[in-house]
Amino acid sequence: MGKNRILSGIQPTGNLHLGNYLGAIRNWVNLQEEYDSFLFLADLHAITVPHDPAKLAENTYEAAATYIACGIDPQKSTVFVQSHISAHSELAWLFNCITPLNWLERMIQFKEKAVKQGENVTVGLLDYPVLQAADILLYEPDRVPVGEDQKQHVELTRDIANRLNFQYGSEENPIIKVPEPLIQAAGARVMSLADGTKKMSKSDPSEMSRIDLVDPPEVIQRKIKRCKTDPVRGLEFDNAERPECNNLLTLYTLLSGQTKEAVATECADMGWGQFKPLLTETMVEALKPIQDKFHGLMSDRTYLESILQQGREKAEAIALMTLEKTKTALGYSKPL
Ligand code: TYM
Repeated sequence: MGKNRILSGIQPTGNLHLGNYLGAIRNWVNLQEEYDSFLFLADLHAITVPHDPAKLAENTYEAAATYIACGIDPQKSTVFVQSHISAHSELAWLFNCITPLNWLERMIQFKEKAVKQGENVTVGLLDYPVLQAADILLYEPDRVPVGEDQKQHVELTRDIANRLNFQYGSEENPIIKVPEPLIQAAGARVMSLADGTKKMSKSDPSEMSRIDLVDPPEVIQRKIKRCKTDPVRGLEFDNAERPECNNLLTLYTLLSGQTKEAVATECADMGWGQFKPLLTETMVEALKPIQDKFHGLMSDRTYLESILQQGREKAEAIALMTLEKTKTALGYSKPL
């Protein structure tokens, strides 16, 4: 029997941050050993909010280089760009026509982002989870490894797949495989440095709220120095009154590779003045190999392009088969 498959992606909107790494990419690096892995750059999603055309392609290359710098091995994983495979948009259209509008209106991420856009909210922002369902279902993965914030979108994907199977297939002959989300507890929700109750996010206007994976040591030091803490001495996990404390300890745990218990003991009597330099040093050290590799990759565009080209060929062959069988189930004939 072949390996089970995973599929996941990140929007190349600006630099990727620690939440993307700890909630997603780091897990993919481990999963690629066991799973047939499809990892892509969701550049069609990147235009659902206002974007700068002069930066889109560059951001996409940078995100691809980040995947590889973090340990995604192009020999083991298929890495590709969403907009290079037009089947994503085509399947999204077919799904649009079987997805009830109210399923989209209740998506948390839409509601949050729509508030920020006011009257300029586009149909694309509302429709985004349908495109995401197409991204996923085209490759018929078994699991979709994401951070906690994407769980609702993966559930919607399952609902769309089930609806397609129910309306146009049969129980014995489903059209499309229904995937499961894969959310690993550690790192699933990295919080903002400015507010421990909000997730770290690319769309937060304040750069001080996040650590980008390419931040140089002095920037990391400045961000940690200024990040929100509390006046309590002694550091602890899981105290609901101290969300920043829990978040910073969690970052230290994940980046130092220690257990939660070991960190709880080490930091129990520390003050912030002692902990912050320790966290800074650990973070700088953990990110250095990623940054070195990233800069090397960005100076070898030909290599990066060849990986994305190979990825595209492999991914597109699978995507076209799924698109074809979905079109057939909906009643389309093949062109002569
Ligand atoms: P995006 O680009 O917002 O995030 C990419 C991945 O990073 C995770 N993540 C986090 N994890 C922990 N803490 C955080 N603060 C944090 N912020 C982000 C996300 O959960 C995600 O796994 N819609 C998707 C991209 C997408 C996609 C897909 C993903 C498009 N099509 C198909 C999976 C499958 C998005 O905007 O993720």
